[in-house]
Amino acid sequence: MSPFEHLVAPAHDRYTSLRPRSFELWERARQVMPGGSTRSVLDIAPFPFRIASAHGSRILDVDGHEYIDFLGDYSAGLLGHDPTPVAAAVHAALDRGWSFGGVHVDEIRFAEAVCGRFPSIDKVRFTNSGTEANLMAIQLARHHTGRDRIVVMDAAYHGGLLYFGHGGDALLAPFDFVRMQFNDVDGAVAAIDASVAAVMVEPMMGGAGCIPATREFLAALRTRCDETGALLVFDEVMTSRMSAGGVQARLGVTPDLTTLGKYLAGGMTFGAFGGRADVMDAFDPAAGGTLTHGGTFNNNVVTMAAGAAALGELLTPEVLDALYARGERLQERIAAVLAESGLPMSITGMGSLMTIHTVNGPVRSPSDLADSDPHLKELLLHELLHRGIYLAARGYMALSAAITDDDCDRFVDALADAVAVIVTASGSAASRSPAPAG
Ligand SMILES: Cc1ncc(COP(=O)(O)O)c(C=O)c1O
Repeated sequence: MSPFEHLVAPAHDRYTSLRPRSFELWERARQVMPGGSTRSVLDIAPFPFRIASAHGSRILDVDGHEYIDFLGDYSAGLLGHDPTPVAAAVHAALDRGWSFGGVHVDEIRFAEAVCGRFPSIDKVRFTNSGTEANLMAIQLARHHTGRDRIVVMDAAYHGGLLYFGHGGDALLAPFDFVRMQFNDVDGAVAAIDASVAAVMVEPMMGGAGCIPATREFLAALRTRCDETGALLVFDEVMTSRMSAGGVQARLGVTPDLTTLGKYLAGGMTFGAFGGRADVMDAFDPAAGGTLTHGGTFNNNVVTMAAGAAALGELLTPEVLDALYARGERLQERIAAVLAESGLPMSITGMGSLMTIHTVNGPVRSPSDLADSDPHLKELLLHELLHRGIYLAARGYMALSAAITDDDCDRFVDALADAVAVIVTASGSAASRSPAPAG
């Protein structure tokens, strides 16, 4: 039995007593939305606090608590909650009207900026989400190769219909998927043969726990795809923030197709897939392409204007490199606190994306997380929330550019305090003698 389990209920009670308004709204929300929300990952236990407003790196809940936001909308909020140039671009776009049902200029500016950044992207198409971008990339690869099979990494998350984890009943799009183990260089040869249309991989597994791919592994996938004629697809929905050209530019491994999402349109609804011109031209009738690509909101004026502004003025190489460096520094400091605590905890990540695990490291593949302690994770979440720090229930954090060094100091102090409280509480529990019978 976990020495942390009995500490969870009191933490939930304290959380509930401090958030009566959130509780009331959750009860109301559940009448009309299953679980009281419309995005499963937001369903934290015992109920989610409800957000009233957010500015910069701060979130305010309806019960009057302020949190420093270390979650950054699961990486979509890279620019913080209200970057002025994005707001100005959106207001200007709205002044020109919306729902055009036709092509316009901002989508060209945005597409030029995307193609100018990522080594693998000659041409790009926009979607409404990362899920959609990945579904389109899979179908495009099947069309291009005339093959059906898609190789994915065990435990990967590529979207609402592309979840290869083991918890719950995942809703999986009905493709011919084959799983392989992440970072298994030898496994690449066995898994990828001439029946494979595409290999889809994140250069760092995000949802599975911020586990970076080795360069050697990505290079082995590249080589094996070249040998077999399969397309290599990098899902850089999360990781594209690691440099102006994503992880592919940082590591020098170039896929055939790349998918994007999250922060890249300044926090507005977004997804994109792009890659080699000869592959993408399947969507160009003038080039003999026969594929169609629907989507009422693909070029919606808000996203296109916000994206062009974000890539033009805000997401500069300098900003992304500084964010990467700040994230690396924070990871080192967190690792030191966790090691000092003696608790079974570790951290993995890359740059500004990281996950605190409740298992001793090293964590090189999702299978290394099999013995994670869910109760310790739950406790950590509540101890940090209580100290005004917001992160994901699974220990995931995505720094935004609004996070300062001072915010990082506050995080490290809160973490040190939280683990000390957990050590004391669980240690006293471990040494407690059983009550005498009778
Ligand atoms: C790596 C990765 N791919 C795809 C997706 C799906 O993106 P969206 O939520 O926009 O559908 C996510 C979302 O978390 C993701 O992390």
